Amino acid sequence: MNSRILFVCLGNICRSPTAEGVFRHRARQAGFTSLQIDSAGTAGWHVGKAPDPRTVAAAQRRGYDLSALRARQVRAADFDNFDIVLAMDKQNLAELKSMLPRGVNTRLGLFLDYAGDAPFSEVPDPYYGGDAGFEQVLDLIEQASDGLIARLRGGQL
Ligand code: 4NP
Repeated sequence: MNSRILFVCLGNICRSPTAEGVFRHRARQAGFTSLQIDSAGTAGWHVGKAPDPRTVAAAQRRGYDLSALRARQVRAADFDNFDIVLAMDKQNLAELKSMLPRGVNTRLGLFLDYAGDAPFSEVPDPYYGGDAGFEQVLDLIEQASDGLIARLRGGQL
């Protein structure tokens, strides 16, 4: 299985780098060693920056190291270079759809569609909130990661 998966949020400093790091870690543990995993933001404000320190710290407490990641913006080539592009929320999914070049068939979707019975359909933006928001981001992303891994294992992607 060599799926190429891109996670997308707004700034690429909170939610999608968390998804990249958590999914990479859990997929590796599940024996998927040849997946290509990346993340990007629809906005370019934070390009080149490491993830938000609150994101790095919350992830570190659960054993995920996000410190080497650097933000980048979504680019048109991503739709050729990735098989699946998963947005953290509906606004960013709509932005991706508006960027999709004509004739390109990349699969776009919401990451939490893989989260089974999670009480949310979107990963809430934690940027302007408190520490609990960063824990919630991790909870939701861990759940969706395991759902996505189960789909990969079942050959359903
Ligand atoms: P993210 O969070 O989309 O999860 O990376 C945000 C990061 C920065 C901003 C908004 C959301 N901002 O407005 O700068």
